[in-house]
Amino acid sequence: MTTAEEFNYDESKVGEYTLPDSLVMLDGRKVADAAMWKERRRPEILRLFEEHVYGRSPGRPQEMSFKAFDNDPRALGGLATRKQVTVAFTGQPGGPSMDLLIYLPNKAKKPVPTFLLMNFWGNHSVHPDPGIRLSERWMVEKAAGVVNHRATEASRGSRPSRHPIEKILARGYGYATIYYGDIEPDHPQGYKDGVRSVLGPLAEGKHPRDAWGAIGAWAWGLRRAMDYLETDKDIDARRVAVLGHSRLGKTALWAGAQDERFAIVISNESGCGGAALSRRWYGETVNRINNVFPHWFCENFKQYNGREKDLPVDQHMLIALIAPRPVYVASAEEDRWADPRGEFLSAKHASPVYRLLGTEGLVGDDMPAVNQPIQSIIGYHIRGGEHDLTEYDWLRYVDFADKHGGVEKTRRHRGTEESRRTPCE
Ligand code: GCU
Repeated sequence: MTTAEEFNYDESKVGEYTLPDSLVMLDGRKVADAAMWKERRRPEILRLFEEHVYGRSPGRPQEMSFKAFDNDPRALGGLATRKQVTVAFTGQPGGPSMDLLIYLPNKAKKPVPTFLLMNFWGNHSVHPDPGIRLSERWMVEKAAGVVNHRATEASRGSRPSRHPIEKILARGYGYATIYYGDIEPDHPQGYKDGVRSVLGPLAEGKHPRDAWGAIGAWAWGLRRAMDYLETDKDIDARRVAVLGHSRLGKTALWAGAQDERFAIVISNESGCGGAALSRRWYGETVNRINNVFPHWFCENFKQYNGREKDLPVDQHMLIALIAPRPVYVASAEEDRWADPRGEFLSAKHASPVYRLLGTEGLVGDDMPAVNQPIQSIIGYHIRGGEHDLTEYDWLRYVDFADKHGGVEKTRRHRGTEESRRTPCE
């Protein structure tokens, strides 16, 4: 049950809370150094998130296969090469699968660093490019051109503002996306038509309280996309940034926390169950999210409805799992539901782990002003406006990738012509 009173938007009512210490083991021992973090505490925190929040996921299926069905070097008016690849999770044609859509900048030297994200409305919604396969999967009704939960031709390019692909390519990055509904339709019964009905305990008719939820399944899909990216010689798999917006931001954080192959992890307004601290009583609560979206997390998470203080973790520890890799948390001023301050504090409280591992963490104690990004190894910005993924957000992520391991670093590593030029040339 949820009630209107459950939601607080008054900072003075947030109340006192004590966060679990990322650097103290469950048995009380203090994490003394980087080795102890890596070998003991990091695996312990990962297990806690599996058991209490997102559930346990299976590994990579042995029979998984990749089938490229498109490779057009003259896409987007000659700017890009478009590739589309089906990832068949069990190697069977009729089995569960996802389609990966990739654009790579023709001008850039290969392999290129690449942004990977899931989309809400089908790959065909990200750009009007007629070469993109139209999704035949179930999707929610509210997108343009979706009729009876199916996309029609009218839904091509319905969400371009969230995907400024040409601008990303112009900065020397590749762009890769997957429709999250390929992995599992986003409703409580969706698992019956998704990967969870074929792999893992649900497939065997068991429903353990720590079995993966839908967010776990979507995050698993991002990791399987990474399996493909590692095989594509045009993509620099050591420089893949995973990002996501809102529920898919929660997903990107969980994928990046588990899988160290993601070089950069970006959360766009992921809110409750993502970057925002659960113990702060502000905006969405654990009780509300578990009631409205009962399929997102594992069953165990429901025991913390209204009892956030008993959680053995909080979301700053999810960010700490990404250390020492660059991570960026972003909020929007009007997106109070996602608790911007709770997102900032989570990023900030991940800093002790980053510092233990010899990096700067988040530079600055206070929340920055609107549209004043912090681009330290833990990045943060709060954008003016509402809950959305916008070009402003994307361009900050591209700046961040340039600074922390994207195009510029690739050039430096390779000692190419570009690295010898001065910035003014
Ligand atoms: C709802 C939900 C949020 C989620 C958002 C989204 O608002 O309560 O937790 O982030 O949907 O994914 O758009």
